[in-house]
Amino acid sequence: MSKNLFSDIPSEVLSFLASKGFFILTVLKSHPGKRHTFLVEKKSQFYVAKVHMYEYVDDQEHLFGADILAYPDSKLLQEYQLYIPEQLDQMASYTFSVSLFAYMEGETLERLLQNSPESYSLYINMIMAAFHNLTRTYLQNTSKPYSHEKYSWEYRVRRSLHFHMKQLYKTKTEINSRELKTLERLFGNTDFEQKKNIVHDDLSIGNILISKISVPYIVDWDGYCTGDARYSIAKFLYYLYINGHMEFYSIMENKCLTAFGYKKIYTYMLLVLVEKMKYSNGKRNKAEQMLIKSILKKNMI
Ligand SMILES: Nc1ncnc2c1ncn2[C@@H]1O[C@H](COP(=O)(O)OP(=O)(O)OP(=O)(O)O)[C@@H](O)[C@H]1O
Ligand SMILES: [Mg+2]
Repeated sequence: MSKNLFSDIPSEVLSFLASKGFFILTVLKSHPGKRHTFLVEKKSQFYVAKVHMYEYVDDQEHLFGADILAYPDSKLLQEYQLYIPEQLDQMASYTFSVSLFAYMEGETLERLLQNSPESYSLYINMIMAAFHNLTRTYLQNTSKPYSHEKYSWEYRVRRSLHFHMKQLYKTKTEINSRELKTLERLFGNTDFEQKKNIVHDDLSIGNILISKISVPYIVDWDGYCTGDARYSIAKFLYYLYINGHMEFYSIMENKCLTAFGYKKIYTYMLLVLVEKMKYSNGKRNKAEQMLIKSILKKNMI
């Protein structure tokens, strides 16, 4: 294995995995200083090990940091025909935590669409079915203690909005003050229902793995919470739009508006957009601003 592959990985992470008997086959994804995902092997079994560095947890995930190790129960979700890799173990060191997952052989939807863009339509119904099932999930029926429930969905949304709307007012953007007021009024008037669905906080085509027998597995449940699953759906639409998958976006948008109601979908899309704009720091992403403006212009919400 080349030395470069590991140059971003702290040596204590490498030695910890080795001490637990894991042989690293490859680095699946690395966000230096934040998190690293590995394909590992132990006793001829493949696993995925996801490492979260604590500094990141404390800094960025101040609200939900402690929950990062807790993933939803894959068996519970199977009852809704929603498939996620089983979390097999959790380990912790002084500076990081490690979650161990069953390895699902497959390709991300992102990769599949690169190789055969015409297969959009094939996956749309599968993804819609998975989303429908997310809106039917309820955590309150489980006997497991979910620490996420200590913050209500409403509290989470309002707190996030308070922070991000302030940022938007402070920074120069294409969004004019009339539009900002409209956003504020819209969010103020929205009843963020106390739903108990399982919400995936980062649904993107990179986080959907299509197995060899075409089952979509949803990965990356960091920061998941209980709330309105339509927020996950809005995030999915956001990523499709921002990453330029316009054909996929248009079809999904239509289906989602019909299936889940345009008012909530657009409101959650605006919420995601307002939250995400923080990350482009000063120089706001033009596509995001245009999307906000175009949703507000639709005059339906
Ligand atoms: N259980 C699994 N089985 C197979 N592959 C997996 C599994 N979990 C994750 N992967 C692969 O590893 C990649 C990175 O994992 P993950 O999304 O959890 O990390 P991440 O750091 O949050 O990445 P990103 O920032 O891109 O979302 C996934 O896109 C997927 O291709
Ligand atoms: Mg991911």
